[in-house]
Amino acid sequence: MIILIFHVSLLVPEFVLPLLTTQIITYRDYLPKIIGPRAMRKYLPKYRSYNSSIDPSIKNAFATAAFRFGHGTIHAIVPRLNESYKEHHKFPNLLLRNSFFIPGKLIYQGGIDPFLRGLIKYPNKLMKQDIVLVSDLYDHLFENVSQVADDLASLNMQRGRDHGLPGNGECKVKYEVMQF
Ligand code: HEM
Ligand SMILES: *[C@@H]1O[C@H](CO)[C@@H](O)[C@H](O)[C@H]1NC(C)=O
Ligand SMILES: *[C@@H]1O[C@H](CO)[C@@H](O)[C@H](O)[C@H]1NC(C)=O
Ligand SMILES: *[C@@H]1O[C@H](CO)[C@@H](O)[C@H](O)[C@H]1NC(C)=O
Repeated sequence: MIILIFHVSLLVPEFVLPLLTTQIITYRDYLPKIIGPRAMRKYLPKYRSYNSSIDPSIKNAFATAAFRFGHGTIHAIVPRLNESYKEHHKFPNLLLRNSFFIPGKLIYQGGIDPFLRGLIKYPNKLMKQDIVLVSDLYDHLFENVSQVADDLASLNMQRGRDHGLPGNGECKVKYEVMQF
């Protein structure tokens, strides 16, 4: 993989390198944790090369609904860690609800490193039936920057209706998932 990055980066280094790094993190580190090794083998075979005759479009139901599964993996706490991976004494952990639209905390409070260390050290929130979304996302979304807090769960469902998606039951039958 490193050799591949090196070779391609000789051609257009500043454009390709971040792109490949993102692909590697997504395919090698992230996706197997999300869908598991068996589904990886079955649905996502090894990347071979660019192929211009493959249609890259995705289903409306995936783009608008399924891909938002990630909202269920977000923690209510945004950790900020020092170089020893302990809570930063000057810039402590934040509540997610107080973290929206505050780039100043990135620029003036130790840069991006304290946030990245938090992402490295702690796993995602586990999806559970009783806590799909943390309340920071459904009762306190963007609270600090708007008159009324937003609600990500409602936005997600309403957006599905905007896009004319079929209901949950119908999708599950279509994609052969267990029906409730
Ligand atoms: C703190 C983290 C996050 C916040 C606050 C957030 C918030 C939002 C908001 C407000 C929208 C637009 C809702 C609407 O009006 O329809 C949205 C859309 C979306 N989110 Fe997130 N999100 C977060 C993380 C994630 C993650 C981790 C994933 C997936 C792994 C994800 C996937 C999506 C997708 C696919 C859309 C639809 C994008 C589109 O079609 O334009 N989000 N999110
Ligand atoms: C590219 O994709 C098309 C359509 O899936 C396939 O028929 C073809 O064999 C692929 N070409 C290469 C070089 O893999
Ligand atoms: C990080 O914080 C811990 C706990 O407060 C402290 O013991 C440690 O010395 C700090 N590390 C650095 C590099 O500042
Ligand atoms: C956001 O609002 C909460 C509650 O009113 C407040 O405690 C917090 O300091 C605010 N955060 C920012 C960054 O304005």
